[in-house]
Amino acid sequence: MTEKYPWKKEYDIGIEEINNQHKKMLAIINRLYNESEKPDISKEFISSIITELEEYADYHFSTEEYNFMKYDYKGAKQHILIHRQFKRKISMFKEEFERNNNILNELIDFTKNWLIHHILHEDMKYAPYLKSDNNSENS
Ligand SMILES: [Fe+2]
Repeated sequence: MTEKYPWKKEYDIGIEEINNQHKKMLAIINRLYNESEKPDISKEFISSIITELEEYADYHFSTEEYNFMKYDYKGAKQHILIHRQFKRKISMFKEEFERNNNILNELIDFTKNWLIHHILHEDMKYAPYLKSDNNSENS
């Protein structure tokens, strides 16, 4: 089955561990999309995928934030703030969904757009700082 939102080469930030985490986040969003298209939606199941998205986002953000400290990335404060805002937004969506408000499409749209924009415009900014140390050509 082709994925609704496939990972693309342009999302490559040059750090494999983080690329893989971005792929995994997209995979969770694709699963949410696939579930949302089913005629017999299971609210509990979708809720569990949203929880998985929250937990994985936490794990992924921790990886990035740990590396910001490790490499003393100057943009860390601003970037961490954006992570916090995303988490707050998803937990608001989740509450709405559990109150039976039909926000699933909005949630999927927001999450997909946010992730892609975040990769292209925020993660790309730290990539050269986090890469330099791993890259033997630069040392
Ligand atoms: Fe990030």
